[in-house]
Amino acid sequence: MAKKKVVALGGDGVGPEVVDATCHVLQNAGFDLEIIKPPCGEAAMKDYSNAFPEETRRLCDTADAILFGATGITSVAILAYLRWFLDNYVNIRPVKYYVGAGTCLKDALGIDFVILRENSEGMYSFAEGDLALLRQKLADFRTIMGKSLADFGDGKFALRIVSERGTRRFAKYACEYATQRRKNGYLGKVTCVTKSNVLRQSDGLFQSIMEEEVKKYPELSYEHYYVDDMARRLLRFPKEFDVVATENMFGDILADEASELVGGLGVVGSACVEGKVAYFESVHGSAPDIAGRNIANPTATILSAKLMLDYLEMHQEADALERAVAAIYKDGKNLTYDQGGKATTMECAKAVLRQMK
Ligand code: IPM
Ligand code: MN
Repeated sequence: MAKKKVVALGGDGVGPEVVDATCHVLQNAGFDLEIIKPPCGEAAMKDYSNAFPEETRRLCDTADAILFGATGITSVAILAYLRWFLDNYVNIRPVKYYVGAGTCLKDALGIDFVILRENSEGMYSFAEGDLALLRQKLADFRTIMGKSLADFGDGKFALRIVSERGTRRFAKYACEYATQRRKNGYLGKVTCVTKSNVLRQSDGLFQSIMEEEVKKYPELSYEHYYVDDMARRLLRFPKEFDVVATENMFGDILADEASELVGGLGVVGSACVEGKVAYFESVHGSAPDIAGRNIANPTATILSAKLMLDYLEMHQEADALERAVAAIYKDGKNLTYDQGGKATTMECAKAVLRQMK
């Protein structure tokens, strides 16, 4: 079988450090991967005056998978390309506790659920503008409260688009995903999260499409919570969840909240899939305050690489990598400062690598 080709893009801030550390692990663990690191992000901006050179984009298009570090301001164009242009409309964010990680709870043992975030529309449809434009185009429009758009005066709007096609494809994926997890011994439960009590039409549609699709899977169980209630339930009952399926912005916010249950943003990875080329990135941002100091936690990117290996059907390698991460957390001697340790980014990664040898 041909070697899988992975394009690794650091991006901004701590991105290049955590990606380098992760690639160090992947390259030295003996995994059958070809890893290419073309210029991108802040570094490429300096050298080529372009954060996303044409050649880098071309390499992404022909890769088997892309590993991505983090976005600040400079790399937004890369993120936009990977997520929206390549149309990776599902964002998988596993929230799993590894013993030894710095949870905010007294007892996090057994937390192991996944947030599936619709990744292409909702509040992040990039459809914003002046209220004046909307009022001109929709002179007869009235809100449920009977207000016209002119009644708001001047300002801006953002369209929160919930399309039938976008929601249907996401709902189908969520059901398949939960079915797969059920086969692996999980609950087989889909928790749909919306604000359909207020956003009756848009989130009403999201909820009803989820329900229509889940009905086709009698072996799955299903529940629905409003997002405000869900924010609380994540803290109080985190062990009750299996697959949480939600709109783009809700997923963005709930994932950051949920990360604290299992050690914070430094330890939660993610996969963006179902588009032309899948890509894998941590849930955290570019953390400019600690960039360049070799102290960022590489775990989130290493666990994103674990998801990438699974995606590439390299399941044994994925399992070995995850076991190594679990082992260094349990042992606790090579963790970064966010976990109360003193290890540098590279020392932490090298500890993961030693576990695999
Ligand atoms: C994330 C980030 C991004 C998002 C930003 C950088 C656009 O916060 O991956 O969660 O909101 O999706
Ligand atoms: Mn986010």
